[in-house]
Amino acid sequence: MRLDIFTLFPQWFEWFETQRHVRNAIAGGSELRYLDYRATTPLSAGQVDDSPYGGGAGMVMRVDVVDAALQAAYGDNRSGRRIVLMTPSGRPFDEELASELAREPDLTLLCGRYEGVDERVREHLVTDAVSIGRYVLSGGELAAMVVADAVLRKLPGALGHADSAMEESFSAALEGHPEYPHYTRPPTYRGWDIPEILVSGDHERVREWRRERSRERGASDREGA
Ligand code: ADE
Repeated sequence: MRLDIFTLFPQWFEWFETQRHVRNAIAGGSELRYLDYRATTPLSAGQVDDSPYGGGAGMVMRVDVVDAALQAAYGDNRSGRRIVLMTPSGRPFDEELASELAREPDLTLLCGRYEGVDERVREHLVTDAVSIGRYVLSGGELAAMVVADAVLRKLPGALGHADSAMEESFSAALEGHPEYPHYTRPPTYRGWDIPEILVSGDHERVREWRRERSRERGASDREGA
């Protein structure tokens, strides 16, 4: 996958790139680029934002600045490329969307800042608008990291173990339910025991027990428990 992240703060991603699954994805042939809107802004003194028409507090990222950044990276050849604007009012990000995006050979995430991004970016320049939750972050960088993390770990080899991503929460293997609980040593801690069945050696019953717990968790999630 070639993943491009447009941002005003490329340095935010320095830590992200040190993470093992991100390094694995890169070692496996994926490419990550961080593109700074200020490097390509057509305005003087690195300006990228402006006051909102109609008045109001805060600044808005300009459409010409975002367009110039995309133009510098791709020219007019954007066909087939998924370009995603990170915004609190976008499509809710979930495991299904992560899998969908992980199948893209080319993916672009646009981070906004300030009060928001000129709506014409959403109307004319992007293919998707995605939200990581119904709350407002100070910018799209953390949201883009969340999306990049969830997407990159799905790429072959990213987790270093072929099965790690198979039977995890919300996967088809678990019928879309959350993952079953995990336990490890010690078997008893402060009187808290692990479920006996996990050390029974009966793999079929262990599988059934896990499927049951996973279904239960799915049901209690929906009830808000
Ligand atoms: N930018 C600011 N808040 C956001 C959110 N909740 N999701 C995606 N992008 C954002």
